[in-house]
Amino acid sequence: MQLDRRSFIGLAGAFGLGAAVGVPSTLAATSGFAAMAGGSSVPFYGKYQAGITTPMQDRLYFAAFNVETEDTAQLKRVLKEWTLAAERMSRGTDAGPIGAASGMPEAPPDDTGEALDLPAARVTMTIGFGPSIFDSRFGFASRKPAGFEKLPTFARDELESEQQNADLMIQVCADDDQVAFHAIRNLIRIAKGTISPVWLQSGFSGAAKASASRHTPRNLFGFKDGTANLNVDDFTETQMHLWVDRGWMTNGTYMAVRNFRFDIETWDRSSLVEQEQVFGRTKGAGAPLSGGSEFSQPDFKAKNARGELAIAEDSHMALAHPSKHGGAKILRRAFNYSNGTDRVARIDAGLLFISYQKDLEKQFVPIQRALANNDQMNEYVTVIGSSTYACPPGLAPGEFWGHQLFA
Ligand code: HEM
Repeated sequence: MQLDRRSFIGLAGAFGLGAAVGVPSTLAATSGFAAMAGGSSVPFYGKYQAGITTPMQDRLYFAAFNVETEDTAQLKRVLKEWTLAAERMSRGTDAGPIGAASGMPEAPPDDTGEALDLPAARVTMTIGFGPSIFDSRFGFASRKPAGFEKLPTFARDELESEQQNADLMIQVCADDDQVAFHAIRNLIRIAKGTISPVWLQSGFSGAAKASASRHTPRNLFGFKDGTANLNVDDFTETQMHLWVDRGWMTNGTYMAVRNFRFDIETWDRSSLVEQEQVFGRTKGAGAPLSGGSEFSQPDFKAKNARGELAIAEDSHMALAHPSKHGGAKILRRAFNYSNGTDRVARIDAGLLFISYQKDLEKQFVPIQRALANNDQMNEYVTVIGSSTYACPPGLAPGEFWGHQLFA
């Protein structure tokens, strides 16, 4: 059967398949599955927004936007148009009802066309609102969640301003680069003149393909990334660490974004032993340096043959581990990126770190502070972007993105 964007029937409930087929839940939390990669669609409507606990897709387009108008009605109109288009594209159809190749010859089509004949590729579009949207412009000040502010500056941050703290963001993920690009492009087109992109970053993860062979995807340092992640199949964990349970953000979550540029050349000259010490895990299997296999619990007291701690106290894993943060966990959903070369022909690549958590102050900030102050990894990265967004709960048919702000 040919699965094209017009004829494909979404596989309802596809993103829950991990538990059903017995894939380890830690892997299910961060990865996609062969059965889902390629054609299937992820439901747009639901209690939670898609693209958060959805098994990670292969591709990302992350766009930060500022609102150009001060006309609240105009903003509302675009958010409604966005919602309709996003719901349509999630099903693998054109962004608008007329389509890319129909309608009046004199008028521009309401879809750009590059995803015609491609499957839905598990495309998801997730929206989040930055602290600045709650200023005086639109009357949203009373809706600002308590304590929701820009992330603090952390040690060694070297931020490039245009990447930070925009009014809102859309995270598009899909298993196909062209499908993901099509979605963000059409959303940008629809909002033209009202909401403008200030930053656009593409990314890749290899997650769906890695998990097809039951592997955790790897970052550009070559290490498995996502092993000890929050378990999205565990109801208690998600209620405790992920979903907000008060006010209009109930069933929403807070996103932290940190853009890490890698010093690839320095990393590639470091020895295997050094690399493994940085993370506290082996490079091949991803096992803790205290022994065992990938999913073994680390033993932070274990000593190596030289009588030193097997997992160094300033290794990434030791500093980030929940046992060091009162049990706090976060859901990591990071994508690798590559932007060609910089001005002196070095590879410009890194990690767009994205995490979701119920409470930034209690979960993300203390972990990030410990890492910024002491992480061995800091020698090989520069943080050039840092921002946070409030991602509202999912929608029911008839509702629109951000409707809670206008209530
Ligand atoms: C360049 C940026 C980063 C890289 C390359 C990176 C890489 C890794 C790797 C390889 C692991 C071990 C495997 C795993 O459990 O997934 C790990 C674990 C972890 N990372 Fe990161 N990470 C980065 C940034 C961050 C940031 C910004 C945070 C949060 C503020 C964070 C929090 C964690 C946590 C909580 C764990 C699990 C620790 C455990 O329970 O064992 N990471 N990271």
